[in-house]
Amino acid sequence: MKPIRKAVLPVAGLGTRFLPATKCMPKEMLPVVDKPLIQYAIEEAYEAGIEAIMLVTGRGKNLMEDHFDHAVELEHTLEARGKLKELELVRQFPAPSKLMYTRQQAPLGLGHAIWCAREFVGTDPFAVILPDDLVKSDPGCLKQMMDAYAEVGGNIVAVTEVPRDQTNKYGILDVVEDDGRLASAKGLVEKPDPADAPSTLSIIGRYILQHDVFAHLDKKETGAGGEIQLTDAIAATLGDVPFHGLRYKGRRFDCGSKPGFVAANLAYALDREDLADDVRAEIADILG
Ligand code: UTP
Repeated sequence: MKPIRKAVLPVAGLGTRFLPATKCMPKEMLPVVDKPLIQYAIEEAYEAGIEAIMLVTGRGKNLMEDHFDHAVELEHTLEARGKLKELELVRQFPAPSKLMYTRQQAPLGLGHAIWCAREFVGTDPFAVILPDDLVKSDPGCLKQMMDAYAEVGGNIVAVTEVPRDQTNKYGILDVVEDDGRLASAKGLVEKPDPADAPSTLSIIGRYILQHDVFAHLDKKETGAGGEIQLTDAIAATLGDVPFHGLRYKGRRFDCGSKPGFVAANLAYALDREDLADDVRAEIADILG
């Protein structure tokens, strides 16, 4: 089994749910407490053993490239003022060639964004992280998936139970066998009506994929919402490649939605020694 050393992070969506904040800033640069979403995703990838990452960007590319590069003036100023802790924080970024960028020239869907990274992936298996799905866990969600991959190989998605009346918001697995941790599946459906949903196990933004998905993505077929869907490409490989959903351990925050983003900020702040007491006091004050 080939080890997974590459990850693709699509960050080219329009982020319309966060307008006007995302008018000229990608939503992946929104901070949870004091760190942008994209940095959490990159740290999760490296923790899982990923060696090279490709960001598929659209607009706002410069902001992310700048974030993961030296800020010479700022570093000099922090150094001159003896702010060494802060200096350390702004110098944390991957070495050149460990982080690469390509552009999705039009937002044609998640499947199309992944297709844009096909030359980078080549014939290797690879991981995909959607940075707006933030998973608070130790070890990280992708590391848990890597461990599952060592057991079963093939394509793996991270999954969580959703209420049946919400299946029309998610990609849903058609499960064959389920041991409570790993569910092997014979299909997946994008946003099924509750009455038609084959299960209530929904996919979140973490995937381990074989390069076979590109054979389908090459066809540029559109699916739900008129977009080129990654789930359709995974479904097309069923039968050729084992397919499992992993119930990860941890708490997932859908930071692409406002309630999820606000909840993530609270959860991460309440977990910080330097912030928890003050934040708790603020919440108590707001709640009266
Ligand atoms: P979303 O479905 O959250 O869409 O994308 P969005 O455009 O980012 O946000 P809204 O719904 O308008 O508020 C899920 C993931 O797929 C990426 C996004 O960047 C996000 O990581 N994506 C989506 C692309 O890279 N390209 C696309 O064409 C679509």
